[in-house]
Amino acid sequence: MKTLAEFVRSTPFWVIAHRGASGDAPENTMAAISQAIDEGARMIEIDIQATRDDEIVVFHDHVLGRTTNGSGHIRQTSYDDLKQLDAGGWFDARFAGERIPRLDEVLDLIQGKAYLNLEIKPLKDDPHAERLITQAMNIIQEHDMENYTVYASFDHHALKLVKEIDPLARTAALNVPGDSRLPSEVVSSCGADAYGCSIHELTRKRSDDVRAHRIPWGIYTVNTPEQLAKALEYGVQSVVSNKPGLIWHTYSALTQPPAI
Ligand code: G3P
Ligand code: MG
Repeated sequence: MKTLAEFVRSTPFWVIAHRGASGDAPENTMAAISQAIDEGARMIEIDIQATRDDEIVVFHDHVLGRTTNGSGHIRQTSYDDLKQLDAGGWFDARFAGERIPRLDEVLDLIQGKAYLNLEIKPLKDDPHAERLITQAMNIIQEHDMENYTVYASFDHHALKLVKEIDPLARTAALNVPGDSRLPSEVVSSCGADAYGCSIHELTRKRSDDVRAHRIPWGIYTVNTPEQLAKALEYGVQSVVSNKPGLIWHTYSALTQPPAI
């Protein structure tokens, strides 16, 4: 596998599986990530959270209720309690028994097969933010995935911490909804290497700016051929999708000449 930097330089367009193939399997579970890999996704996006006892797990919300049969805050729940929860049955009965995976378990699955887009959920109020980020980065390092990972966040302070810990780490600043600064201003304010925003924030000003400053970029979330067409109209380089297989297939059909 090329390093992430080489991949970004040499790849005109790629699909990032959002929380795995979360349109077809429960988000951020081994099932969703494994499906995304099987569908050929080149990059997998996951979210990380910390448990009460500082285990780094792959999970989107701060609270457990939406995607598990548990309740309460993840940061106030021990890993032992967390691993008893069902993180799949809410999505479909056939996924009952899926667990909330630890970051290292997910890396075992992705390593050597796809690039990792690791979203750090806002940690502003957590006094242990720096230690937790260091811990996640150490897990990445133990899996030799430093050159295959980009750290993304709406929390630009967290991205600055990532760069302080490892100046060679790659970061992507996600535009905070309502922030009208240009991508070049956002990335330079936190030293990020790349930029991400919602499809609803796509404007000519933003797409012209990323091109003028040669900033790698992506948008979320693109789940339909119509949304893909809009992204391509703006020259978007990567899209985050709950349906990575469908979007890649649609892109390939649009850009490859039909076989004679
Ligand atoms: O990659 C961008 C996207 O994941 C950010 O939003 O809420 O789905 O984590 P969210
Ligand atoms: Mg995310």
